[in-house]
Amino acid sequence: MTKEAIIAAVRQQIREQFSGEGTGHDYFHIERVVRNALRIAGTEPGADLFLVALAAWVHDLGDYKLHGGVDRSEALITTLLGSLNIPQDTIAKVVEIVSQVSFSKGKTAESLEAKIVQDADRLDALGAIGIARVFAFGGSRHRELYNPDDPEQTSIQHFYDKLLTLKDKMNTSLARTIAGERHRYLEAFLQQFYAEWNGEES
Ligand code: ADP
Ligand code: NI
Repeated sequence: MTKEAIIAAVRQQIREQFSGEGTGHDYFHIERVVRNALRIAGTEPGADLFLVALAAWVHDLGDYKLHGGVDRSEALITTLLGSLNIPQDTIAKVVEIVSQVSFSKGKTAESLEAKIVQDADRLDALGAIGIARVFAFGGSRHRELYNPDDPEQTSIQHFYDKLLTLKDKMNTSLARTIAGERHRYLEAFLQQFYAEWNGEES
């Protein structure tokens, strides 16, 4: 199989498994991460584009949030890529990259490919799409949008816990630039949100 054919087959499998997912981990999240990862990789000399594409396609395959709190990344990635006769050492590299990507696992991305996929995944938590995903995820967990008396468990709190911290955590130069713009969009959104909430629009 050519690399193109392998990527097409992986994409097809992911499309079948993730279509209609409603918590922000849907197929199109993954497609955006692949697109941005390849875009970033194009600005980073030395990045292995095949590894970047494979890791981006499978990065949420075993996510613990989708599997009752258990991370099944290694097993599911190995099964999927193994069924396409991809060499074991390539599969091991993809598993390693994916293990370094997740925000919630708090791991550091060591390889250039992991840095790139991590940036692309984090970019999708920012900007207009990031805002949409926060409330989709929050809704799936029956979270309130916001509660000024008890903000801790609300979707707005997630902006402070995660989203607003991301722009300073980007690994690559292009992602830092895009994250800066998306960060300003989040700040403007919050300002407008509170103004509407408090009846203080000018
Ligand atoms: P990713 O798949 O992009 O690595 P996560 O799995 O951590 O990110 O989260 C998926 C999406 O859900 C992200 O857009 C994130 O901002 C959002 N999200 C994660 N945790 C919360 C939360 N506690 N409240 C609201 N949104 C959340
Ligand atoms: Ni993701």
